[in-house]
Amino acid sequence: MSILKKHKILETNVTLLLVFSFIVVTIGGIVEIAPLFYLENTIEDVEGMRPYSPLELQGRDIYIREGCYVCHSQMIRPMRDEVERYGHYSLAAESKYDRPFQWGSKRTGPDLARVGGRYSDDWHVAHLMDPQSVVPESIMPKYAFLMDTRLHPDHIGDTLKAHKIVGVPYTDEMIASAKADFVAQADPDSDYDGLLERYPGAQVRNFDSEPGISEMDALLAYLQMLGTLVDFSTFTPDASR
Ligand code: HEC
Repeated sequence: MSILKKHKILETNVTLLLVFSFIVVTIGGIVEIAPLFYLENTIEDVEGMRPYSPLELQGRDIYIREGCYVCHSQMIRPMRDEVERYGHYSLAAESKYDRPFQWGSKRTGPDLARVGGRYSDDWHVAHLMDPQSVVPESIMPKYAFLMDTRLHPDHIGDTLKAHKIVGVPYTDEMIASAKADFVAQADPDSDYDGLLERYPGAQVRNFDSEPGISEMDALLAYLQMLGTLVDFSTFTPDASR
């Protein structure tokens, strides 16, 4: 029987065809995917990346809770129009402590991957309270209630622990000082040396200029950090080494 005749058996039997297609796709998949786990340059270590500080992490939880990702992406693609508008294209390493990742799938609003430092805290507060007050044509909803909810860091250590379980390298020291770090980051009069040692580049200030730590403080700590951890004036991608 010629090889073509044998192939005809496959082509005329749906079950066999499915079984063999499955085998072929499986082999193809393994050949493509398995090496990625062993090649060193697929896991790029980038200087500056660190786990989120407790306050930033809480802000990120609020970002997820409020569904900001439904309208905002956090992934700048390496195309010229994107790079000119938003800055250096996003690196995989910049999402490595994101569980879950916040790449998003829709841009009703602009990409936020590098929004940190682009606007003042006051601008953000005014914008989140009432987006139309600063961008009249905006269709972004109001989030003024974020100012009203005070945060208590009672469970922030547990949040860090949970992230540690899924692979974020929080140390025991970071977990033990989570409460203190949480409070210190929103208070410029506090002793925040330990915080800066554990989370280099963390921004310390009273983000919403109101007493106490509100959800607004946490969200701003997160937004103002986005895209600021890696120094792109010195960064060279792996491939060009
Ligand atoms: C219904 C869609 C929608 C949702 C939900 C939404 N936004 Fe927006 N956002 C927009 C649009 C549209 C703009 C552009 C107009 C403007 O600046 O208000 C924008 C702009 C922004 C900007 C300014 C970005 C820049 O580079 O100019 C920030 C920061 C921002 N949003 C943060 C947030 C945060 C934080 C949340 C969640 C609490 C959120 N947005 C939820 C639609 C949305």
